[in-house]
Amino acid sequence: MGFFNGVPVSIKGTGMYVPEKVLTNQDLTAMVDTSDEWIRDRTGIRRRHIAAEGELTSSIAEKASREALRNSGISPEDLDMVIVATNSPDTLFPGVAPKLQGMLEAKKAGAFDVQSGCTSGVYSMAIATGGIASGVWKNVLVVGAEVLSRIIDWTDRNTCVLFGDGAGAMVLGPAADGEGHFISANMRSDGTKHDQITLLGGLVEYPASGETLEKKLHYVAMKGNDVFKFVNRVIPPFLKEYCLESGFQPEDISWWFFHQANQRIIDKTAERLGINPEKVVINIHEYGNTSAASVFLALCEFMREGKLQKGEKLLFTAFGAGMTYGGIIYEA
Ligand code: UT7
Repeated sequence: MGFFNGVPVSIKGTGMYVPEKVLTNQDLTAMVDTSDEWIRDRTGIRRRHIAAEGELTSSIAEKASREALRNSGISPEDLDMVIVATNSPDTLFPGVAPKLQGMLEAKKAGAFDVQSGCTSGVYSMAIATGGIASGVWKNVLVVGAEVLSRIIDWTDRNTCVLFGDGAGAMVLGPAADGEGHFISANMRSDGTKHDQITLLGGLVEYPASGETLEKKLHYVAMKGNDVFKFVNRVIPPFLKEYCLESGFQPEDISWWFFHQANQRIIDKTAERLGINPEKVVINIHEYGNTSAASVFLALCEFMREGKLQKGEKLLFTAFGAGMTYGGIIYEA
């Protein structure tokens, strides 16, 4: 954990895009042995949005980015870096970020992807903030974008009911007078748990073969209950310690942006931290788990509602494949 020093870094604008097509829990009952009740009770999810044929991670990232840029008043030519947090890139290389940088004609910007499970979004915010605070970059576009529906096994009820597609974006830059700033970040990993959420096939360890296809290694696999236990054991004390080290009690945080993976995990964490549930931003019922995009979608919707007040503290936190986890605190 550490505090950001140097140039204060502000969120200049946010944007989001979710595909139009909606897949309800009821729709899933025709595909796998599940029920609307099971999915709602165990996860809080009611619907998720699914990319149309031909829609790519880069194309939904572009839509979210254009809104964020518009809202920030910063033009693509003024971007120094484009960072895309994703676990479902169009292709392994090129990354989504360079494609996006080309689509936006952000001619002076560099570009790279961050792929570290669902925590990628929080990691990316911290990387961007560090780069701007140090003076290396000025304006950075940070995007969380996923088309997970293409890497899900739609016959596996352990995973297919959970995930959805979507993209959220934010433009970060040096804070002008009176603007908010990021305060601190804490990024962790427990790589001994690397077997809990995986997509193994098609690369170095398991090169694509008839066997990898047959064993369905090209799809997301998850030991859901192990993840559930790991998160419930590790995340509440991590967040408590992180708040205290940042100089806050958990109740000092005005708005909590949890990774939208499971309503039960969110509720349990909030309860253990003694947080008022009204301070927790929730959209899992509508989008499911959008992995690296989830905290961006939650923030963008929150901003659209115009709820944010000057001086409020926001805490973004996520966990995911790796197992990685982390948090970042912002003062509006
Ligand atoms: O962002 C990535 C991080 N991932 C996560 O955060 C996922 C964390 N894990 C979870 O959210 C939960 O573990 C799940 C929602 C995935 C599963 O809930 P659970 O309470 O841990 O259920 P379980 O895996 O212990 O399974 C309970 C029962 C099992 O049946 P039996 O053995 O009790 O007969 C499962 O076979 O529920 C069954 N089950 C289902 N039933 C209906 C599992 N999936 C389904 C399903 N529909 N989709």
